[in-house]
Amino acid sequence: MRIDILTLFPGMFDAVLGESILKIAQDKKLVQCYLHNIRDYSDDKHKCVDDKPYGGGGGMVIKPEPLFHAIEEVERLDNLAAKKILLTPQGKTLNQEMANALSQENRLMLICGHYEGFDERIRSVIGLLEISIGDYVLTGGEIPAMVITDAVVRLIPGVLGGKSSLQNESFMNKMLDYPQYTRPAVFRGMKVPEILRSGNHKLIEEWRNEKSVKRTEERRPDLLEK
Ligand SMILES: C[S@@+](CC[C@H](N)C(=O)[O-])C[C@H]1O[C@@H](n2cnc3c(N)ncnc32)[C@H](O)[C@@H]1O
Repeated sequence: MRIDILTLFPGMFDAVLGESILKIAQDKKLVQCYLHNIRDYSDDKHKCVDDKPYGGGGGMVIKPEPLFHAIEEVERLDNLAAKKILLTPQGKTLNQEMANALSQENRLMLICGHYEGFDERIRSVIGLLEISIGDYVLTGGEIPAMVITDAVVRLIPGVLGGKSSLQNESFMNKMLDYPQYTRPAVFRGMKVPEILRSGNHKLIEEWRNEKSVKRTEERRPDLLEK
């Protein structure tokens, strides 16, 4: 998969793309991430990308010209058509199902806003998908873009070691994950359930299913209703 990220603050991505699973996925050539500074696509001699909103009001709005230039020129960098995603608190809220669907794409283009957001005409870009990462407002679309990149890349076959670890994760079957334990068997008087140490895989699987359902009922009954 190819991921192009359009941002005014590319430096914010260094740590996230340069560590852990996202780094491994790039090293394994399972994903290529490219950062593009929207400012580089401004025709303005001062490389200005924002302006005051028509009608007044506080804050600045990202101008349409650098955004459209960036989207069009970055699109042309590869023959693969990019699924374009606008990060906005007004978009559809990201969930595991959306992450699964996005992980099937060959190419994503993540467009990060800043300041008061984008000139509304950005919404005329054909096929643009608007995604929010939750009902709160962040300073910019960079952290949401990192969230999507992480949620999607870990689903690409071969990125995570054991496939089964993905299938059992929370939300994958519309359920929360079962409780996990590791050594020591007793910690501060708290014991690991005997069944997990029994070596009986059938009973362990039943126990895990039961706990997964119970935990989902207690914490996220809305998932079971779906
Ligand atoms: C300060 S926000 C602008 C919010 C905008 N004035 C509004 O109320 O809808 C600046 C940028 O951060 C990003 N952003 C903020 N919160 C977000 C969220 N929950 N999900 C996705 N992107 C978000 C968007 O790219 C947005 O254009």
